[in-house]
Amino acid sequence: METVVSGIRPTGNLHLGNYFGAVKSFVQMQNEYNCYFFIADWHSLTTHPKPGNIIQSARTILAEYLACGLDPEKATIYVQSDVKEVLELYLFLNMNAYLGELERTTSFKDKARQQPDNVNAGLLTYPTLMAADIIIHKAVKVPVGKDQEQNMEMARKFARRFNNIYGLEFFPEPASFSFSEKALKVPGLDGSGKMGKSDGNCIYLYEDAKSIRKKVMKAVTDAGPTAANSEKPEVIQNLFTFLDIVSTKDTYDYFNEKWNDCSIRYGDLKKQLAEDIVTFNEPIRERIEEYMNNTELLDKIARQGAEKARESATKTIQEVREIIGFHR
Ligand code: TRP
Repeated sequence: METVVSGIRPTGNLHLGNYFGAVKSFVQMQNEYNCYFFIADWHSLTTHPKPGNIIQSARTILAEYLACGLDPEKATIYVQSDVKEVLELYLFLNMNAYLGELERTTSFKDKARQQPDNVNAGLLTYPTLMAADIIIHKAVKVPVGKDQEQNMEMARKFARRFNNIYGLEFFPEPASFSFSEKALKVPGLDGSGKMGKSDGNCIYLYEDAKSIRKKVMKAVTDAGPTAANSEKPEVIQNLFTFLDIVSTKDTYDYFNEKWNDCSIRYGDLKKQLAEDIVTFNEPIRERIEEYMNNTELLDKIARQGAEKARESATKTIQEVREIIGFHR
């Protein structure tokens, strides 16, 4: 079975946009591949040197992913910092990673601009650590968003370079598996095309009914249709796209007819949409809460994941040591 690796930055709670993007594709892939999914807590130090309660943030993300259906029986789910073997590979790869190519990556340049007082070496070598994350398990596929394309090119380059320097076909070149194209795009509530992490615009998976209703009722609309069967402006189309994702076909058709004959009342549509989102969210929210109340279980799952990940990582790193010459 082909091996898949993906890392999740612990930068915040999951929202519906994440659910229909990355998370759903992870949940699908765990049935078809040998999957390693990890929480990239070391990576977060490149931008947040004092990350606060990083253990608790990792628990929260883990709880959310489990609640969405990631299954520790199917996939190896772990926290990056529990698998120290990655650091050794990171060191080896850094010895053959060149300053020029690292400085030229757009994410480095962006970050250097954003945090001019903290242009640290970890930021510079972010792509090397990411490559180590991936090739330590000899992954061939990496589900990532479009924004990670350059990091993936670097990972392939580092894998290829290792093979060339030591003269063997050791690391496979990992291919990106972009889920952005296949995934449903959840619109934002502020009239923007995409749900992102800004408060009025997104609905988090942990949100309760009251908060969801409040947000949906505030969603941006317009003055209403002026002619029958007219095209929907973007803000209205967004609400219909949302209905299409969480409501039944009957509900969608009902409001679509009302739009077409100009009798639509946005208040009614939003009320229905809010209820359908609540229905969708509620079981996930309940499971998040159950996991969050069971720290012991979360920690056990993370421990078992780390054990499995270390098995695979240890095997690779032992081979790498031999290849480079660290054996007696
Ligand atoms: N850089 C990725 C992101 O920002 C997170 C990440 C770290 C990752 N290591 C990885 C993704 C390895 C895939 C594989 O989203």
